Amino acid sequence: MTPLSEEIKNLIRLEGPISLERYMTIALSDPRYGYYMTRDPFGAKGDFTTSPEISQIFGELLGLWCADLWIRMGCPAAISLVELGPGRGTLMHDALRAMKSVKGLMSAVRVTLVETSPTLRDAQRQLLEPSGIPIQWQSDVASLPELPTLFIANEFFDALPVRQYQRSQGQWHERLIGLNEQNKLIIGLAQEPERAITLDAIEGSLLERCLIGEAIMDELATHIAHVGGVGIAIDYGHTQSGLGETLQAMRGHDYVDPLNDPGEADLTTHVDFQRLAAIALRRGNTISGPILQADFLEALGIRQRGERLQKSATVAQANAIALAVNRLTDRSPKQMGSLFKVLCFRHSSAPNPAGFNE
Ligand SMILES: C[S@@+](CC[C@H](N)C(=O)[O-])C[C@H]1O[C@@H](n2cnc3c(N)ncnc32)[C@H](O)[C@@H]1O
Repeated sequence: MTPLSEEIKNLIRLEGPISLERYMTIALSDPRYGYYMTRDPFGAKGDFTTSPEISQIFGELLGLWCADLWIRMGCPAAISLVELGPGRGTLMHDALRAMKSVKGLMSAVRVTLVETSPTLRDAQRQLLEPSGIPIQWQSDVASLPELPTLFIANEFFDALPVRQYQRSQGQWHERLIGLNEQNKLIIGLAQEPERAITLDAIEGSLLERCLIGEAIMDELATHIAHVGGVGIAIDYGHTQSGLGETLQAMRGHDYVDPLNDPGEADLTTHVDFQRLAAIALRRGNTISGPILQADFLEALGIRQRGERLQKSATVAQANAIALAVNRLTDRSPKQMGSLFKVLCFRHSSAPNPAGFNE
């Protein structure tokens, strides 16, 4: 029993069943006990690992991808670099180190980190402060600098709460979290149907919607339409909208029941890239992708960079580099190279982004 499971149960006793979106919001972001608010969940000792934590090359390539865009945008005197959900700050650390090799870029770049977790903000500050580059933090994407902008979001959208709907007797009903007679959290269906969803599907089908992620994407695309620039979202997810449940809970690198021990396990879902792309298009952005992470990283030269690093490495380090490169680009089913997709959205006047073979 976690402190949050008690709080959630009390809330349900008081107000009745709650949406999955509300459950996930509490489990992930409760100021006192929320999963991300209280811990650093990354790495072998944590619950999961991410691409920037697997290899420095990931952040370096994204840094050079930004540098290349800056140059082809005509080297603006000031450019806003915004990372959403920066975790430990590793990606930004590696990206800035690579960007330093480009003359004039460091004096132009203004870094904003969008992060809700105080624990992770501390980790980001500790890692990035020695670089001497001024950084500002924000909790959301409102009031971003009014400058041409480059957005980076790696494994950000998958961490946002979703709603789920189930097809029952020819209508969609929202799935709600309630309590059974044994005082256990269970999933049930709202009595009232969700008439706004008109999609047809067979009985029992499940539909997930990340309305919070869609609202954020709308803000990012609107910002780009207003100030110019380019955004990139990298995440596990599907290129085409579909049906089915993708919610998963991870604790100690193992899958667990999402309703057990809220606040102690990471809750994620697969990102619906088709819906994100449609939102950006609606705001007048131009889209590239989504493409496989393997294709993107290989086009940017992950193998060549790996070989270069291996030249000054010990045998053990060289093996670790090869393993990391293969892990990030493995195209086998359910491996990172194919499971992860890369979507780019940009102002219609922005240059074509590298890595998309356009
Ligand atoms: C799965 S981690 C990814 C971390 C990092 N991008 C990486 O690849 O290692 C999700 C990150 O998003 C942050 N986060 C979650 N919800 C957020 C929100 N609504 N607004 C801003 N950051 C959020 C978490 O605190 C964490 O830093």
